Amino acid sequence: MARTVDNLMKMFTSGSESNIRYMAFAEAADKEGHPNAAKIFRAIAKAKMFHALSHFRATKCTDTTAENLKQALEEETYDFKNAYPPMVQDAVNDDALEARHSLEYGMSIGPVITKLISKAIGNSDADESGSYYVCPVCGNIEFGQAPAKCPFCGVDASDFVSVS
Ligand SMILES: [Fe+2]
Repeated sequence: MARTVDNLMKMFTSGSESNIRYMAFAEAADKEGHPNAAKIFRAIAKAKMFHALSHFRATKCTDTTAENLKQALEEETYDFKNAYPPMVQDAVNDDALEARHSLEYGMSIGPVITKLISKAIGNSDADESGSYYVCPVCGNIEFGQAPAKCPFCGVDASDFVSVS
C-alpha cells in the first residue's frame, strides 16, 4: 500500500498543478481569441481537479478537522514567514517585477490566511452566516462583504469572488 499511496500522491501533485496550468492556458487562449480551446482547457482543468481530489481522498491523508486546521496553520505560517521572503528577494535581485508582485501578494496574504485558520480553530462549529470574498488578484479574503477597494492590491469590490 505504501507504493500505492506514493503513486496517488504523485498524481495528486501532478493533477493539482495541471488544474492551475490549464486554467492559465484557458486565459491565454481567451486573450488570443480562441474561445473553444479556452473552454476545452477549462473543462480539462476541472477534470484534473476532480482527479486530484479523488487521488488525495484515496491516500486517506485527511485527518480530523482539528488536526487539518493545525496542519494548515503550520504550512501557511511557514510559507509566509520562511518560504516567500527569500523568493521575493530573488525576484527583486532579478528585477522581475511581475514575479515580485505575485510573490509579495502571496506573502502579504499569509497573515490573513493564518488569522482565518486560527479563527476556525477557536470557533470551528459556530453557526456563522455570511460569505467570504476573495480577491482574484492578491488572494485577500474578507468576511461579510468585499471592501470598496482591496487594501492590498486596489481591486474593486465587484471583482471579488464570493465563497459560501
Ligand atoms: Fe487584492
